[in-house]
Amino acid sequence: MSAPTKVFVPSDTTARSLGADAVAVAIAAEAQRRGLAVELVRNGSRGLYWLEPLVEVQVGNVRHAYGPIAPPDVASLFEAGFLTGATHALALGPTEDIEYLKRQTRLTFARVGVIDPLSLDDYRAHGGYRGLANALKLSGEQIVATVTDSGLRGRGGAAFPTGIKWKTVLGAPAEQKYVVCNADEGDSGTFADRMILESDPFVLIEGMTIAGIAVGATKGFVYIRCEYPQGIKTMRAAVERAKAAGFLGDDIRGSGKSFHLEVREAAGAYICGEETSLLESLEGKRGMVRYRPPLPAIKGLFGKPTIINNVLSLSSVPVILDKGAEFYKNFGVGRSRGTITIQLAGNIKRGGLIELAFGVPLTEILNDFGGGTATGRPIRAVQAGGPLGAYIHPKHFATPFDYEQFAAVGAMIGHGGLVVFDDTVDMGEQARFAMEFCAIESCGKCTPCRIGAVRGVEVIDKIRGGENRTANVALLKDLCDTMVTGSLCALGGMAPFPVLSVLSHFPEDLGAAAPAPAGKPQAA
Ligand SMILES: Cc1cc2nc3c(=O)[nH]c(=O)nc-3n(C[C@H](O)[C@H](O)[C@H](O)COP(=O)(O)O)c2cc1C
Ligand code: SF4
Repeated sequence: MSAPTKVFVPSDTTARSLGADAVAVAIAAEAQRRGLAVELVRNGSRGLYWLEPLVEVQVGNVRHAYGPIAPPDVASLFEAGFLTGATHALALGPTEDIEYLKRQTRLTFARVGVIDPLSLDDYRAHGGYRGLANALKLSGEQIVATVTDSGLRGRGGAAFPTGIKWKTVLGAPAEQKYVVCNADEGDSGTFADRMILESDPFVLIEGMTIAGIAVGATKGFVYIRCEYPQGIKTMRAAVERAKAAGFLGDDIRGSGKSFHLEVREAAGAYICGEETSLLESLEGKRGMVRYRPPLPAIKGLFGKPTIINNVLSLSSVPVILDKGAEFYKNFGVGRSRGTITIQLAGNIKRGGLIELAFGVPLTEILNDFGGGTATGRPIRAVQAGGPLGAYIHPKHFATPFDYEQFAAVGAMIGHGGLVVFDDTVDMGEQARFAMEFCAIESCGKCTPCRIGAVRGVEVIDKIRGGENRTANVALLKDLCDTMVTGSLCALGGMAPFPVLSVLSHFPEDLGAAAPAPAGKPQAA
């Protein structure tokens, strides 16, 4: 009897919310009705979200894609012979040839959407655990040097060099050290961490294990956003499987090294993504920001030296240890080395995940990948870097994805989320939202943020209502200045950035004078 045909139906939250489970059931039923042998694999998503549920069929070594599929399409797919890769109105051709995917450089996301997320065999067959095997042959100093040389910078938001953080923890003498993964993923328009948790959990486990071995930490925690129930469930199952196979626990694969991992459900507040609040929350307390110094690398979880890194930073470590620092560093531009995972969301035609070497201009992401807005109207603004990121004006869309070049136009890459708005957006409302968000999410520890954000909403309401505009705009700028310079953490310290970007680039939406057209400077 011939082997069953492999059919892949994603089990990622987005695909499931679009009906992937019902599609899987329909495919199994239709195959049975026709007496055809099919092996259903619930892979993760490839991240081409506008095409979900995206079903793939393995024909020889090539996977053929069909999408977006709904249960009523299934009978016609069988009728057309999709099990042999035949054409159909919803056929997309070989998956790897789809432009959106073909043009990407998938290093961290190499296996996402390709493998069965909970199959260790699949993970290893696609290069998994090669990084750890290399790391086990190196000293802690050598592992840290490799990560430093790769140029990897934290993908959680601040872009701090990962190797330098690890070096501090390595050099901090202590009986117990920890590795904490920040999977709170609170930024608007972001979903890359969730995709790793749901679609390739072993890459994160491997990255954390390497981190632990590098600095002498024997215990790790993954702190996962509570709105990610599937991510939590998948990570917990993956931890159990890694333990059973000797990739976690005492004496990892006979190396004499130990690393234990626990998954914790987060408290459900944006501020719990800030690293010191996260540590408080992990310790069972209310998520409040800690004063710094001491740095978490010196005095972190339970007062012990702690590495705290984002999911994407830790998940990039296995490929670096597998292929070497040079390999990774050869991608990118300037001080932005390797790849960046961009998440395209908001009013966009082709939303999804795009992993590329740093240096690609924003306009290429928005137009070539994204295909412009979903409404077909012109793009008026893009918010990059989450709710605390500035709104980028179209005049800056040529800016390449590079931490320093984004900063030069007053923007930030942050966690790589892009939220797109068309020309019907009211930027005054968006400015108000930034302050309102800060007022709601403030931990309350410092005055500029706790009180300032509330006053910010009030002043913006007055400006929008036409009340004493000139004086209130001056007051708003003064307030923003106080928050930027006087806040204890980046929530209060950065919430003014979207507001200030609206004042500079879209002042007409706050009732102020519109900027002069190019070539016609306003009179002083
Ligand atoms: C208000 C606030 C929220 C944050 N939320 C997150 C988050 O959800 N995920 C994350 O990785 N980093 C978040 N950060 C950044 C973390 O404080 C920290 O810089 C990061 O976890 C360090 O990891 P990395 O060096 O790998 O980026 C947040 C920071 C602030 C100020
Ligand atoms: S800036 Fe806001 S969130 Fe940060 S410590 Fe101060 S009150 Fe808390």
